[in-house]
Amino acid sequence: MSLLDEIKINGIPKHVAIIMDGNGRWAQARNLDRTEGHKAGTDALRRTLEAASIVGIEYMTIYGFSTENWSRPDNEIAALMELIVYSLTKETETFIENGIRLKIIGDINRLPQNAKKALLDCSKQTANGKKLTLTVALSYSSKWELARAAQNIGLDVQQGKLKAENISEATIEHYLETKGIPDPDLLIRTGGEFRISNFLLWQSAYAELYFTDTFWPDFGEKELYEAIFNYQQRERRFGKTSEQIQSENR
Ligand code: FPP
Repeated sequence: MSLLDEIKINGIPKHVAIIMDGNGRWAQARNLDRTEGHKAGTDALRRTLEAASIVGIEYMTIYGFSTENWSRPDNEIAALMELIVYSLTKETETFIENGIRLKIIGDINRLPQNAKKALLDCSKQTANGKKLTLTVALSYSSKWELARAAQNIGLDVQQGKLKAENISEATIEHYLETKGIPDPDLLIRTGGEFRISNFLLWQSAYAELYFTDTFWPDFGEKELYEAIFNYQQRERRFGKTSEQIQSENR
């Protein structure tokens, strides 16, 4: 029996977020340049997307490049940008054929002009995809996103579009980059570290966290299904008691 048969099809997480870590170490272990690890990482992303599509995951959000990644060596940043833009634009047709909608979140004005344009073009061309929304966080960090939301809320209060006393959780969500996307149910981090690294902090308030030692370039169908299987063994209580949840399920 394969792992796919063990997954409950009515318990698939709607939204899976992934921190794709370990590209550099994967490459270094093979005496390769770090960029080779990122290249292998794009293959892992393709495999994982396919597997996600098969089980009906509706939203996948990946951490492609963090605000903090801008402090990496210039040559690695340039190679990474080129690779991300190349692989996403190369896949545009495949995305359209498979109902995948691309969405970019983050401070994209910091990206090179040609990269920004290519990514916005791909988002536009795939905008009608209904099966899976692939959100790529680029030049993104949660603290940046929250500070920006606070600025825009402040401006709207100043201009009388919003009353300070009416600001609710829903208001804040409306000002986040992820507006309209449900919160992640499952957050996966590869590469053996146990942290969230400034990724979807608000949105992951109730996400189930799954950490694996597997380096991102080695991740794929089997590893995704293992994570889903593990997720399905958890009881999501959202602050309630176990008894309440069990009686709701009956
Ligand atoms: C971390 O590995 C990974 C990244 C900085 C993201 C890059 C991801 C890809 C190129 C995959 C494809 C993505 C897209 C959007 C097409 P690391 O370099 O931090 O690894 P290390 O911790 O081993 O050094």
